[in-house]
Amino acid sequence: MNIILLGPPGAGKGTQAQRLVDAHGMRQLSTGDMLRAAVKAGTPVGLQAKAVMERGELVSDEIVSALIGEELDSMGPDMGAIFDGYPRTAAQAEALDDILAARGRKLDHVIELEVDEDALVERICGRFTCANCGKGYHDKFAQPRIPGVCDKCGSTEFKRRPDDNEDTVRTRMAEYRAKTAPILPIYEARGIVARVNGMADIDDVTTAIERIITSG
Ligand code: AP5
Ligand code: MG
Repeated sequence: MNIILLGPPGAGKGTQAQRLVDAHGMRQLSTGDMLRAAVKAGTPVGLQAKAVMERGELVSDEIVSALIGEELDSMGPDMGAIFDGYPRTAAQAEALDDILAARGRKLDHVIELEVDEDALVERICGRFTCANCGKGYHDKFAQPRIPGVCDKCGSTEFKRRPDDNEDTVRTRMAEYRAKTAPILPIYEARGIVARVNGMADIDDVTTAIERIITSG
């Protein structure tokens, strides 16, 4: 199964992708995570992407599509893919069609997380992740069971993203509205778009997504 999770910054794409990974053994393909790893490692891609990401603008289509192709090549043919934060432009949507076709895969669902933009700044500015395993948390909405200790791996180190500040979030939202939301009609024309209320509790969003992917 190949699924796109679509939605503005803070909609819950990463949160829900991690749950699908845990429940179904699928692979999360987050171009944001791949780019952050490249920045951290100081690779040529990372050097190009760093300042663009800090401004909240989009990295070039060629770079992110190449990352997605490489990641799919590292997976077994039967492993499901969850695209998180990709595609984000019409050019990326076209590239994904080619990338999937070349590997004998097809898109099953595009799940749009519908959210109220006013809530997103609070979500993003309260977000943190485990520095060891990457599990996501929130100061208010998703705290670790034992404060200061990761539920998944027990680490006590956490980190916050440099682009998670109000100014950058506003730019990221504007980029979403201008370049990413307009790709939805491509998938609507194929009849594969499903909408989920992303303002519901995290567990209820998961239940709604499970219903979509198990409905065939
Ligand atoms: P990326 O990493 O993809 O960031 P984004 O799209 O801005 O999305 P976020 O990761 O901020 O939000 P999310 O939807 O994953 O929310 P989360 O689950 O964490 O991209 C970063 C940058 O990389 C881009 O700006 C760009 O520069 C570059 N880039 C990446 N991909 C690219 C591409 N394809 N092309 C070009 N450039 C690219 O949830 C947020 C918080 O809310 C969490 O703390 C969570 O616990 C909480 N939360 C989640 N769901 C709920 C809920 N239902 N109720 C309450 N709280 C909730
Ligand atoms: Mg994310």
